[in-house]
Amino acid sequence: MNILGINAYHGNASAAVVCDGSLVAAVEEERFNRVKYAAGFPAQAIRYCLREAGLKLEEIDHVAVPRNPYARLGTKLFYALRMPSFARGRAKVLAKFTGIREALAAAFDSDAKTIAAKFHRVEHHQAHLASAFFVSPFERAALLSADGLGDFASTMWGSGSGNRMEIADAIAFPHSLGLYYTAVTQYLGFLKFGDEYKVMGLAAYGEPERLETFRDIVRFDANGDSGGFRLGLDYFVHHRTGPEVSWAEADKTPTLGRLFSEEMPRKLGAARAPEEPLEQRHRNLAASLQTRLEEVYLGMLGKLAKATGLKSICLAGGVAFNCVANGKIFDSTPFEQVYVQPAAGDGGLAVGRCGIASAGVDAARSRDDRRGKNIGMVSRARGVGAAGAGESQHCGGSTAGEYEGNPEPTNQAPGDFSSVCAVDFGGGDGRVVCKGAPFAVYDAGVSGAAGKAGADSGADACGRHGAAADCYA
Ligand SMILES: [Fe+2]
Repeated sequence: MNILGINAYHGNASAAVVCDGSLVAAVEEERFNRVKYAAGFPAQAIRYCLREAGLKLEEIDHVAVPRNPYARLGTKLFYALRMPSFARGRAKVLAKFTGIREALAAAFDSDAKTIAAKFHRVEHHQAHLASAFFVSPFERAALLSADGLGDFASTMWGSGSGNRMEIADAIAFPHSLGLYYTAVTQYLGFLKFGDEYKVMGLAAYGEPERLETFRDIVRFDANGDSGGFRLGLDYFVHHRTGPEVSWAEADKTPTLGRLFSEEMPRKLGAARAPEEPLEQRHRNLAASLQTRLEEVYLGMLGKLAKATGLKSICLAGGVAFNCVANGKIFDSTPFEQVYVQPAAGDGGLAVGRCGIASAGVDAARSRDDRRGKNIGMVSRARGVGAAGAGESQHCGGSTAGEYEGNPEPTNQAPGDFSSVCAVDFGGGDGRVVCKGAPFAVYDAGVSGAAGKAGADSGADACGRHGAAADCYA
């Protein structure tokens, strides 16, 4: 039984293949076309996965594709009436999904009529949850997916047991922790798609002095019955205009229109333009943003732990990339084991869609057989001694190792894009030099006592929280 999973016409276009219950390959299109967060149709990723699996297109039995047009239909219709131009844009993207069979055939210079595979539509957040649970080591676990928006929802939670997942609840548009973080990231002058990690790094250098205002921006009752949160919509515009996102083109990094309203600068002070210097006020705002995210995220996890009585949690969705918040789960919630899908963003959706299709058509198979055996998790770093070229200079002029093996199915993880560097913290004052980005969060492999990853070379700082012991082990 061969299953192809696809994430297409959405950021982080990707593909994955499951053969007889085993995850054989998973990769993002950006690995091939070198376009960060590439959207469009992942033709090269699909060809790579089939090549790794030794399969021809005609040998694929099932294809799991994005979007469930019926998910949250009432909410979609409500906002379609309020935002007709946004609805027209969505309809254009949805029309592309009807041509996935043809796009797949074209990727192989084949005729769509020769594709015998059965096509399955898999909802966005169910795919996120499956991408974590079905490759996790847990037989039973609580599940949480949190991101910007997918299939008109931003958050979903539930539990998994064996081959099955049970969805408890979801939070629909316009309330979204991902859009909250992105809106404040934009307000702080970081406008590129995917810049949130820089602001997470920036937050380490401030104090959450505006936390009360941020509690008004995201409202959450830690003691209430509801497991979810709501945005203070006065601070946002996306519920009035729709999030202006462009990700239909395969050769362009997606762009996202402005999400915050005038209420944000009115309450917090002027928004920062990208070329303006960073001041302590901006660091404090980033810290307030991050602290409120942690309060809500960890509060939701606490409620989920209580509701399920489970000690293990699987996390996915772009918010699950927030390693600072994840690092506080053990101290702040009853969970004792955590699995974060390495491709927690939308690159991992292809893996999750395979998992759901696999569980649906091959339910008798043990979940153990569904774990990845040949994807990036088996790649390895090897030491090569000193070097001094290209990206390695960002790590102090010396390369400690290089990455070897298959690329991981995410642009956030090590793989062929990455340098592996040694950071000698010695007396606790080691410094990582970041020339490329002012707040790159280096997941440095650190042995011994972790010191601080500071800044040099005109850039302000690397995220101190980015240092994670043995993260590549
Ligand atoms: Fe997502």
